[in-house]
Amino acid sequence: MNPSDFALALWPHSASASAAETDHLIWAFTLLTVLLVLPIFAGITFFAIRFRDGRQVNRTYKGNRDRQLELGWMLIPFALTLIFFVWGAQMFVAHKTPPADATEIQAIGRQWMWKFQHPGGQAEINDLHVPVGEPILINMISQDVIHGLYIPALRIQMETLPGRYTQLWFKADRPGTYRLLCSEFCGTDHSVMDGLLTIMTPSDYQTWLAHAGSSEGLVNGGKRLFSAYGCSGCHEGTSQVRAPSLAGIFNRPVPLEGGGTIIADATYLRDKILNPNNNRIAGYKQVMPAFKGVLGEDDLLRLVAYIQSLGPDTETAR
Ligand code: CUA
Repeated sequence: MNPSDFALALWPHSASASAAETDHLIWAFTLLTVLLVLPIFAGITFFAIRFRDGRQVNRTYKGNRDRQLELGWMLIPFALTLIFFVWGAQMFVAHKTPPADATEIQAIGRQWMWKFQHPGGQAEINDLHVPVGEPILINMISQDVIHGLYIPALRIQMETLPGRYTQLWFKADRPGTYRLLCSEFCGTDHSVMDGLLTIMTPSDYQTWLAHAGSSEGLVNGGKRLFSAYGCSGCHEGTSQVRAPSLAGIFNRPVPLEGGGTIIADATYLRDKILNPNNNRIAGYKQVMPAFKGVLGEDDLLRLVAYIQSLGPDTETAR
């Protein structure tokens, strides 16, 4: 059955180990909360009835406090909740640390659809096909307002922001079709900004990739744009104009004019292409034209993928 048929799926099937662990954490924390809260409510009810107005009971205060008991009911619940702090923090770190060998899929959120692109250039809209058992990293950005990519079956969600790349990764372990949604109110058609996630066996995924068709891979597309927009004229070895070589620059610190460094991550490179006047590089005259309004988000993703693909610095730009 199509998962969209379940309009109100409050507890959808989980499709990854980390989703199952998230469920365990939620259940365990709910159970602990109930165990800690029940005695309090039972006590309130008991004393409210026993000492209610007009009842003949002994109301003298005996003053027999038990410090150990009081410390116990403060420290034991505190220690128990700390277990969840450690457990949750571990899951958070794992959630924020994608494995190095993850397959990277690019996503663009816009009013009101999701665009996905696979490394080979295969593109899809409001549909995402991924292989089971392999780590998948989704690198995403918004073309307009803030959206949120939400995949309930994987218990994961991440905002897509204009002007900044954000990431999400998962390793699905249950083939099937699941829903993906926008979780951030983004305008009139927010409620229909959804799609389907299809988790397939690796061989089915390869077949799907072959049939999905693509004229060029992401990196090759970036390389083509790099020449077409004249970037290679300055940033490659034969250049007349002094411009930094981009080989091996990805995710490395670069020195800034006026001191300090900045990590040349995807967001930085994207911004540098659009607004070269920002964060000027030490030792180079700023002569690069701005590409703001010239390049769309998908072309920017291609260019960044190409720069990322450039190996260690082998040629100089001088
Ligand atoms: Cu996009 Cu809500």
